[in-house]
Amino acid sequence: MAANWKMFKTPAETTAFFNDFLPLVNDVTAAEIAICAPFVDLPTAIAATAGSNVTIGGQNLYWAKEGAFTGEISGPMLKAIGCTWVIVGHSERRQYFGETDETVLRRTKAAIEAGLKVIVCVGEVLAEREAGQTEAVLAKQFEGGIAGLTPEEFAQIVIAYEPVWAIGTGKTATPEMAADAHKAIRALAATKFDAASVRILYGGSVKPDNVASLMAQEDIDGALVGGASLDPVSFSKVVKF
Ligand code: 13P
Repeated sequence: MAANWKMFKTPAETTAFFNDFLPLVNDVTAAEIAICAPFVDLPTAIAATAGSNVTIGGQNLYWAKEGAFTGEISGPMLKAIGCTWVIVGHSERRQYFGETDETVLRRTKAAIEAGLKVIVCVGEVLAEREAGQTEAVLAKQFEGGIAGLTPEEFAQIVIAYEPVWAIGTGKTATPEMAADAHKAIRALAATKFDAASVRILYGGSVKPDNVASLMAQEDIDGALVGGASLDPVSFSKVVKF
């Protein structure tokens, strides 16, 4: 169960979140819990969760190890401060910051080389769904962004299916729609990799009151949660659905 805080919370707000959140989830053993926070909050989040059952990740990285790339953060830097995870290819990065399937693959490989586990995001926009192209879009994103991994690299990723029209809109894919997409993604993965064990998260307006019906679907292994992860009580309810 992964949180994507996006561009929310200061370090002080991060401390306040964990003060409330950790006691609510310290008995959770059935789920792995990850919080992907803004870069400036990562040292605070890592210190706050030391020795706990919560791991921390970034939301993006650049593929070079270091260099003259003003404003960028590398995989080795995230690893050095104690990150376990990084999100790559979120639809907001594709939409606003020029992320492509090719750069998703470069970032994913760089993150794995740095020793990070990667949450690779895929998903269609509304026009693509309405045109009946969901599976074709997922296939293109898989071919360009994931199929280029080695089997060893593939073992280090989690895939997140996030239908773009369901992100931050309050519109959730029905459990059946999500299940169909997850099944298609697992079938795509099975054409190249040992796909039975890859975890596929659903993301898009997951809330305490809809998480159980989504998680009941066979191919949905977890959730990537935006808005509902910002509040400790709400995210603890998602985690403990
Ligand atoms: P919301 O849960 O706010 O819809 O965001 C989903 C998301 O984009 C998680 O990465």
